[in-house]
Amino acid sequence: MRVPVRSSLMEIEDYEPGKLVKGAIKLSSNENPLGPSPKVVKEIVKSIEEGELNLNLYPWERNEEELRDEISRYVGASARIGKENIVIGAGVDGVLDTLVKIFIETGDEALIPIPTFSLYESLVRIAGGIPGYIKRKKGEDFSIPLDELIPACNEKTKMIFISSPNNPTGNCIPEAEMRAIIESVPKVMVVIDEAYVEFADSSLVNLVKEYENVLVLRTFSKAFGLAGLRVGYAVIPEWLASAYKKVSIPFSVNSIAIKAAIVALRDKAHLRKCVKLVKHEREFLLENLQRRFLRVYPSQANFVLVDVSPRKSYEVYEELMKNGLIVRDCASFRGAGDSFIRITVGTSEQNELVVEALKQISS
Ligand SMILES: Cc1ncc(COP(=O)(O)O)c(C=O)c1O
Repeated sequence: MRVPVRSSLMEIEDYEPGKLVKGAIKLSSNENPLGPSPKVVKEIVKSIEEGELNLNLYPWERNEEELRDEISRYVGASARIGKENIVIGAGVDGVLDTLVKIFIETGDEALIPIPTFSLYESLVRIAGGIPGYIKRKKGEDFSIPLDELIPACNEKTKMIFISSPNNPTGNCIPEAEMRAIIESVPKVMVVIDEAYVEFADSSLVNLVKEYENVLVLRTFSKAFGLAGLRVGYAVIPEWLASAYKKVSIPFSVNSIAIKAAIVALRDKAHLRKCVKLVKHEREFLLENLQRRFLRVYPSQANFVLVDVSPRKSYEVYEELMKNGLIVRDCASFRGAGDSFIRITVGTSEQNELVVEALKQISS
């Protein structure tokens, strides 16, 4: 006989990763087209071969500390962020998992402006919480209606999740709006997900030193090209560090990932190269797609959102797939409707193929 699983799981959608088809160009998961710094690969192989990384041992605390130190320097000496403000996890996904466990009890609520990254709502539901959805202003700039978000908070609301730049819309929340939210709800933890911040014009990380109810998530999966190793971090107010340590799974980031992240942070030239490519190619996609046929939204991330109306997103997705190009059909994003596709910015050759294929499809 099967043992019954928790009833709340019935309401949780499977996480849908970007598809991977052999031989096709994958522009569906916002990965880095240049991959990690070659120094990362070299250093890892070397440190395993030379026995510096002992894979038979659990990850060494000192290495984790070194990474947190390195992250704090990267995030901003100007913001007075030290290693005591940094926690790490298995990607932003892993960090989010720990945070939701810290704040959400059965019956608690969390607010999520949509469309956005789907893991926020899944984790809230898994914890027995209730996600509340606030629709971003569609058809305009996908900004968040503060006059709906702030009054929607009540004594049960424990968290608000704001992705900035937002996946899949690509826009950032202005600092003044973020401050208004944080100041209006001092008993709610405001989570700012900056997974794509390296491709944006600015960051909100300084707010962590000013307010007790805000934290910022970052990742090595995007600009640093290390999605396969699963490393992410949060910049948190110091009071939260002990709860994080208690709840987080021990050794959630493995030794190789820790080493890779340290080396990646030190190779600033590679980071600059990746960011430069994405910004340049993002402009290419924007100009060429907009000029020709479609509504393309300005983006601060490494992807662009395209409205293919009056076509349906799944039709265009399938036709692109026939051309060997995998993009994201955004119909799976709650509140996105059925006419958006999201295209990860690829290499120049890949982006030219995308423009060419969309030109054929829409002519
Ligand atoms: C907004 C956002 N946050 C977090 C993630 C996941 O990041 P990580 O690979 O660090 O778990 C993604 C992945 O696409 C994302 O779009």
